[in-house]
Amino acid sequence: MAPIRNMKFLSALLLGGSEIIAAQITNSNATANGTYHVYSSNSVPRVTTNSTENEANYTAPYFPLLGFEEYAQNPILAPNPANNWESAYLYNPSAIVIDDKVWLLYRAQNSSKTSTIGLAWSTDGYNFTRYNKPVVTPTESYEIPGGCEDPRVIRVNGTFYMTYTAYDGKTARLCMATSANLMDWTKHGPILPNTTDVVWNWQDPLNSWVPRQGWSKSGAILNERQPDGTYHMHFGDSFLYFANSTDLIHWNVTYNQPVWAPKLNVWEQGLMESAAPPVKTRDGKWLKIYNGVATGQGGYKATQYSTGEMLIDPVNSPFGPPLARLETPLLQPTNVREINGQVDNVVFSEGLVQFRGKWFLYFGEGDAFLGVATTPLQP
Ligand SMILES: *[C@@H]1O[C@H](CO)[C@@H](O)[C@H](O)[C@H]1NC(C)=O
Ligand SMILES: *[C@@H]1O[C@H](CO)[C@@H](O)[C@H](O)[C@H]1NC(C)=O
Ligand SMILES: *[C@@H]1O[C@H](CO)[C@@H](O)[C@H](O)[C@H]1NC(C)=O
Ligand SMILES: *[C@@H]1O[C@H](CO)[C@@H](O)[C@H](O)[C@H]1NC(C)=O
Ligand SMILES: *[C@@H]1O[C@H](CO)[C@@H](O)[C@H](O)[C@H]1NC(C)=O
Ligand SMILES: *[C@@H]1O[C@H](CO)[C@@H](O)[C@H](O)[C@H]1NC(C)=O
Ligand SMILES: *[C@@H]1O[C@H](CO)[C@@H](O)[C@H](O)[C@H]1NC(C)=O
Ligand SMILES: *[C@@H]1O[C@H](CO)[C@@H](O)[C@H](O)[C@H]1NC(C)=O
Ligand SMILES: *[C@@H]1O[C@H](CO)[C@@H](O)[C@H](O)[C@H]1NC(C)=O
Ligand SMILES: *[C@@H]1O[C@H](CO)[C@@H](O)[C@H](O)[C@H]1NC(C)=O
Repeated sequence: MAPIRNMKFLSALLLGGSEIIAAQITNSNATANGTYHVYSSNSVPRVTTNSTENEANYTAPYFPLLGFEEYAQNPILAPNPANNWESAYLYNPSAIVIDDKVWLLYRAQNSSKTSTIGLAWSTDGYNFTRYNKPVVTPTESYEIPGGCEDPRVIRVNGTFYMTYTAYDGKTARLCMATSANLMDWTKHGPILPNTTDVVWNWQDPLNSWVPRQGWSKSGAILNERQPDGTYHMHFGDSFLYFANSTDLIHWNVTYNQPVWAPKLNVWEQGLMESAAPPVKTRDGKWLKIYNGVATGQGGYKATQYSTGEMLIDPVNSPFGPPLARLETPLLQPTNVREINGQVDNVVFSEGLVQFRGKWFLYFGEGDAFLGVATTPLQP
C-alpha cells in the first residue's frame, strides 16, 4: 500500500449552478503538473423511464474487441477536495449511455476511507461534470463504516439496476439498488446467501487457498432475460460464480456447481472478478471484460490487477466455462498513478460503452483516480 496522496485546495469559483475548482495534487506525479479542473453541479440533467439508452446507431461488437489505448490526459476524474465524501480517492466507475450522454457512477472515498457512490455525466466521454452530492451513501449497519463500493449498472425496462458492495469493515456483501433517474436510489439490501468462497492469500502463497464466510462482491448482470427464463449474473472476487434471478432483485446461487470460469491465464491466477456488465455480440454471444490478479508468476507482479476479455454463451453454457478468452491483458498498469497508488499496480475496469464512434473503457487507477481508454468501433 502506498501512502495517501496529499491534495491541496487552490481556488473555487461559483458560476451559476456549476462549480469549477482548480485543484492541485501535491504529488506532481499524478498529473502533468498536478493541476486539474473539477466541474461540478448542484443539479442533475433529467432522466426518466422514457430516456433512451445508447446512441441510435449503436453497433454491437464482436469478440475480440482489441486495441484500447489510454487517453493521454488521464485522469479524467480525480478527488474533489471541496466535497468531504470524494476528497481522498475517486475510482471504479460503471458507465451507461442515456439521452446522448455518458453517465458514470463511481466509487469515492474520504480520508477515513468511507466509500460512497457519486454520479457524473459527459457529452464527449472525456470531460465530466459531477453531482456535488453522493447518490448512494452508507446508511445500514452492514454498510458502516466501510461504505458502498464498486457500482455496476444495467437498465431493464426503464429501471436502472445497480449492484454494489456494502462493507462493514469486516464482511463485503453484494447489494442491489434500483432507480428510475440515476439520482434517487432504492436499496434492496444484500442479495446473496451466507455462503463460503475461497480466496488466494498472497501473504502465504504456498498455503494459499482459504475459505471465506459470507463474503460476496462484484456482480455483473446480463441485461436481457435468457431463454431459461432468468437473468444471469457473474459475481465473486476470488473465483467467478454464477447466480440467476427472475426479477433482478432476488437471486439464486449455484455454489455447488464448478466455478463458472476457471483460472487459465498466468496473470489471473490470484483472482478473477467481473469488470463491466457483459455486452451482447453481433452473433448473439456476449463479450465480458473482467479483472484478474497475478501471483507473481510469468513476469506479472504479485497482486497486479489487469483487465481481460472473454466470450461467453449464456444460452448453451450458462454454467460456464467461457468459450474463449484473451491470453494477454487488454489493459495493465503503466503510469505512475496506476503503479503507485492507494493500492499499487492496479487498473480496475468497470465501465464499457459505445459513444461517438468509439468504445470507452472506464477504469480505476491505483484505487485513487479515474481513467479511460478507447478503441475504434469494429467495421
Ligand atoms: C514520482 O516519480 C519518480 C520517478 O518515477 C519517483 O522516483 C518518485 O518516487 C515518485 N514519487 C511519488 C510520490 O510517487
Ligand atoms: C509544477 O508547478 C510548480 C509550481 O506551481 C513548479 O514548482 C514545479 O516545478 C512544476 N513541476 C513540473 C514537473 O513541471
Ligand atoms: C413517458 O412518455 C409518455 C408518452 O409520451 C408520457 O405519457 C409519460 O408521462 C412519460 N413519462 C415520464 C416519466 O416522463
Ligand atoms: C468520512 O465519511 C464518513 C461518512 O460520512 C464520516 O463518518 C467520517 O467522519 C468522514 N471522515 C472524515 C475524515 O471526515
Ligand atoms: C468541460 O466541461 C465544462 C463544463 O461543461 C466546460 O466548461 C469546459 O469548457 C469543458 N472543457 C473542455 C475541454 O471541453
Ligand atoms: C454465516 O454463517 C456462519 C456459519 O455458517 C455464521 O457463523 C455467521 O454468523 C453467518 N453470518 C451471517 C452474516 O449471517
Ligand atoms: C430459487 O430457487 C428456488 C428453489 O429451486 C426456487 O423456488 C426459486 O423460485 C428460485 N428463485 C429465483 C429468483 O430464481
Ligand atoms: C422487461 O420487459 C420484458 C418485456 O415486457 C419482460 O419480459 C421482462 O420480464 C421485464 N423485465 C423485468 C425485470 O421487469
Ligand atoms: C436458474 O434458476 C432456477 C431456479 O433455481 C434453476 O432451476 C435454473 O436451472 C437456473 N438456470 C440456470 C441456467 O442456471
Ligand atoms: C453514431 O452517431 C454519432 C453522433 O450521434 C457519431 O458521433 C458516431 O460516429 C456514429 N457512429 C457510427 C458507428 O456511425
